[in-house]
Amino acid sequence: MKRAVIDRETVQKIIDTADIVEVVSDFVHLQRRGANYIGLCPFHNERTPSFSVSRAKGICKCFSCGKGGSPVNFIMEHEQLGYWEALKYLARKYHIEVQERELTDAERAEQDARQGMMGVNEFAMEHFRSNLTDTPDGREIGLAYFRERGINDWAMERFKLGYSLEGRDTLYKAASEKGYSEKYLVDTGLCVRSDRGTVYDRFKGRVMYPIFTISGKVVGFGGRTLKTDKTVAKYVNSPESIIYSKKNELYGLYQAKSAIVKNDKCILVEGYMDVISMHQSGVENVVASSGTSLTPGQIRLIHRFTQNVTVIYDSDPAGIKASLRGIDMLLAEGLDIKVLLLPDGDDPDSFAQSHSSAEVEEYLQRNEVDFIRFKTGILLKDCADDPVKRANAIADIVRSIAMIPVEIKRQVYIKECSLSFGIDETMILRQVARDMAAGREKKAREAEREKARASVADGPGVAENDEIARQMADEQADREAQQAAQPHTPAAAAESVSPRPAQPGLMKRTRASVLEPQERALLRIVLKYGMLDLGQDFVEGEEKAEPVKVIDFVADDLAMDNMNFTNPLYHKIFDRALALRDSSWESDYEQHYQGACRRRREALEQGIAALKETASDLSDIKAGETLLNERVAKSFEEDLRSFAMSYFERLLTYDADDEIRAAVTDMVVERHQLSRIFTKYNQVGDADDKRLDELVPRALIALKYDAARCAFDELRQQIAQMQRQPDYDLEEVFRLMAMQRKWQQFCSELASHLGERVYEPLR
Ligand code: CTP
Ligand code: MN
Repeated sequence: MKRAVIDRETVQKIIDTADIVEVVSDFVHLQRRGANYIGLCPFHNERTPSFSVSRAKGICKCFSCGKGGSPVNFIMEHEQLGYWEALKYLARKYHIEVQERELTDAERAEQDARQGMMGVNEFAMEHFRSNLTDTPDGREIGLAYFRERGINDWAMERFKLGYSLEGRDTLYKAASEKGYSEKYLVDTGLCVRSDRGTVYDRFKGRVMYPIFTISGKVVGFGGRTLKTDKTVAKYVNSPESIIYSKKNELYGLYQAKSAIVKNDKCILVEGYMDVISMHQSGVENVVASSGTSLTPGQIRLIHRFTQNVTVIYDSDPAGIKASLRGIDMLLAEGLDIKVLLLPDGDDPDSFAQSHSSAEVEEYLQRNEVDFIRFKTGILLKDCADDPVKRANAIADIVRSIAMIPVEIKRQVYIKECSLSFGIDETMILRQVARDMAAGREKKAREAEREKARASVADGPGVAENDEIARQMADEQADREAQQAAQPHTPAAAAESVSPRPAQPGLMKRTRASVLEPQERALLRIVLKYGMLDLGQDFVEGEEKAEPVKVIDFVADDLAMDNMNFTNPLYHKIFDRALALRDSSWESDYEQHYQGACRRRREALEQGIAALKETASDLSDIKAGETLLNERVAKSFEEDLRSFAMSYFERLLTYDADDEIRAAVTDMVVERHQLSRIFTKYNQVGDADDKRLDELVPRALIALKYDAARCAFDELRQQIAQMQRQPDYDLEEVFRLMAMQRKWQQFCSELASHLGERVYEPLR
């Protein structure tokens, strides 16, 4: 059992402070859309935004892949953190102090490998950094190198550059001394274990470039040698691990992301030094693919922040041609691509180092060209008058155009292409259509494989790197395809029909599925309005009217009929809500009440001060005061009410239980359930708390009605079954029939309460 390391008050503070829009904005570029915000979903690949964020509800949700939830959910999912770790992340973000115990040995071991590896990497990064300034070698070799390449202190700090010493195991020793486990040192690839079992450092005598995730965690390193010896590898990089997947990281994105959003553009370069020099020169929206061609994962990362990408090439023709293909992928993602060619002999690093930032900016603006035009230019130049080469070039361009998902853009390019090659537009159009069809087919095949892969893999992320899982998945996909192709034999068909369970089981199942919508609707009401007063209810024997809370009314009413939620998850959630009512409501409310009083006091003071300044005479002040009092009293009421309202939703979308959190999040998101059931109240919105005294009893009656119907139907089936027996017990059948009539009567009573809802007559 994991124990809570954060106390309840702190969790409450986090819930109150964390703003879903702010939390999500650290990773996704959000745009306002009415009351909500919308952006590209960070959890799946998409081109049109379906990730929606509601500040009022405190929830985000992708309407395409379904992922999302409260801030804690979002962080858990996005950063692949555990529940408590995600809470700590939020606490850090909002500078909320977290009371934490020193971890015991057992707990330290329990902390999952990811955290451990990130911790080791963090330590190593600091170690490399201090080498740079605190050791003679670091200063004379590492620091001197960066200086010589024109890197200033600001950039070194921003990219946390460092130096690994020449020794065989300097890092290993330093880390071990601090208690970092050898396992994580080896798992991160910072150290290597030899066949003989000794452990030594991977990076020796290299300048070190830490690689950060989008949220700023160090997951790996690139180490560049300073030797000119050609037999020494220029770069040594961290190996792939459960925290580092090269194809899903972009060097510099963490430092560049806000500039990318601000400029609405991402500049793509090749190497570490290119990124750093550009930043230093003031162009900060730059990232590097680290020498390899872009992967879909990296493209997705970029697309989260912008739609516009400029690829910078140094003007090496062979290099340019080789990378043209990779750019097609960017097109397919729906990105708008420009290309920038640097002057002969320059790479982004040297160019940025030898020009002022104004010059760099200006050069960028003047020389960017559209990718398709650029590609056309290059290919055309190559083929001169050779008709075969020309045809190939055209086919190549057309393939690129066919990648563009937006029809209007395709049309524009088709026109241009027709002009520059002098070829009939319809011909090009036809070829584009053919290429697109081929592309779709390929994509469908890939999707099939991806699906099978997902069903084999048992965990995200880890399985992504796992070749074996991938292979198994592909095999499974092939098997499934084969099976699908085979004609169905009767035996196989019979098997595919789910076996009918024995009678009681069947009934239970239908009962549960019949009641599910009503139970959900009722629970939804409890979650949203549970701590609001239902209305004035007379308590027997007492004169005074006492308000009843919605949750109490529901609990009592269900208990009276000996009912509870049949759905085990709903039951669990309801119990949790009751527990919160008993354990935390009072103190939470008290605390909020104090705050509300303070706000009321301040509002009054400010209002009076304003009155005194503007009012012309005493009677004016008096009248103003009355108005002010009314206004302040009203907003005080609202303040308390809105705290009580959604109290359960707020807490339960943060619940430590994964199931509860997910289900409650779903219910908060879904708004149509209520209106589907209560047809009279079609616009069930945030105003319906005014009609709670109608809404709540109706929800209960609707649930009971369906429960009664189930009981009735079950009896009918039972009777019918008995009567099929040769000599059945007539007494027993009469008894059952009497029960049936009772249910029938109960149903019609309930139905009369439900009014306009039309029920099928009971037979
Ligand atoms: N790279 C790599 N492994 C190599 C060579 C290159 O990972 N053996 C990656 C690095 O991310 C590097 C990028 O490819 O930054 C570009 O390579 P290169 O142009 O050779 O290096 P630069 O970063 O330009 O290094 P420098 O300017 O210091 O020579
Ligand atoms: Mn370089």
